[in-house]
Amino acid sequence: MDWDYQQILQEIEKDKENIKNAASLEQFRVKYLGKKGLVAQMYASLAKATQEQKPIIGKKSNEIKKAITSFFNEKKALIQKQEKNQKRVSVDVTMPGVAPELGHAHILTQTVNDICAIFEALGFVVQEGPEIETEFNNFDALNIPGDHPSRDGFDTFYVDAQDKSAQGRNLLLRSQTSPVQIRVMKAYEPPLAVVVPGKVYRPDAVDASHSFMFHQIEGLLVDKDIKFSDLKGLLQVFCQKLFGQDIKMRFRPHFFPFTEPSAEVDISCYICKGKGCSVCGKNGWLEIMGCGMVHPQVFEAVGYKRGKYTGLAFGLGVERIAMLKYGIHDIRIFFDNDNRFLNQF
Ligand code: DAH
Repeated sequence: MDWDYQQILQEIEKDKENIKNAASLEQFRVKYLGKKGLVAQMYASLAKATQEQKPIIGKKSNEIKKAITSFFNEKKALIQKQEKNQKRVSVDVTMPGVAPELGHAHILTQTVNDICAIFEALGFVVQEGPEIETEFNNFDALNIPGDHPSRDGFDTFYVDAQDKSAQGRNLLLRSQTSPVQIRVMKAYEPPLAVVVPGKVYRPDAVDASHSFMFHQIEGLLVDKDIKFSDLKGLLQVFCQKLFGQDIKMRFRPHFFPFTEPSAEVDISCYICKGKGCSVCGKNGWLEIMGCGMVHPQVFEAVGYKRGKYTGLAFGLGVERIAMLKYGIHDIRIFFDNDNRFLNQF
């Protein structure tokens, strides 16, 4: 059989030009290199070829196979690259992007920051203390006697101390931020003014108004000649800054072991403006914190010289303040981690 090499080469060139994509390249490969392709046919024709034709057919078919194989490989790489580029170009840059969700401070963190900022502007310094405390700092030093019900195992989480060095000093999860008063007074000589935000723990059954963990902010101001009127003036300013200028504040006599005299602080109900509604239990006032003048026993426990200093102290619950300020009726919602709630603040 005689092959028209001239014509074969022309046809190959023409076919090459028609290759536009991976599919037409594959057609091209099958036509020339496939099982029944041209090269295979040329090899097959060797059987019937004459002695003179054989070497020529052999040589030409090898040449064609080699040329087409290398063309195919090059072209394949090129097409793959083009298709990849095309994919990149086909991104619609005008389409709105997926914005990463922006986080923000938790409502309780915001409330802590707001409250601390008010006191910082008045010269107080923010201090923190450990959540695992000694029984001494949490109770004894605060003049809370050994038989006080709050010291019962049902009202305080005691920690089993593995640490031998803690022997004789029972450890507990602090039930109030007041022990930080003791730490601060032991570390610094007055004048001092601190606010102490932090978590506290009590084994209360969880319901709409109780949680086994919540947040408090403690305040302590100690100097020579601090008076009860300083306490009342300070908290009056605080209440108005946090709840608005129109809010009224009152002191109600109360008892805390670590202050004398002691008071509970009420603000006029922000909803009914003191007229009486369901939030304030129809009496027009909302209790928001405890306070008093630092008890001489507490000064004694930290080693201050008797009669040298006087001081004021106060403590408030952060969740309660946030619930009042934002009209939240269930404390558990702060800790559910539900963005539908958290993103409102
Ligand atoms: N520690 C008190 C409590 O958890 C709150 C408190 C009341 C703190 C009066 C004070 C204070 O510093 O003077 O109920």
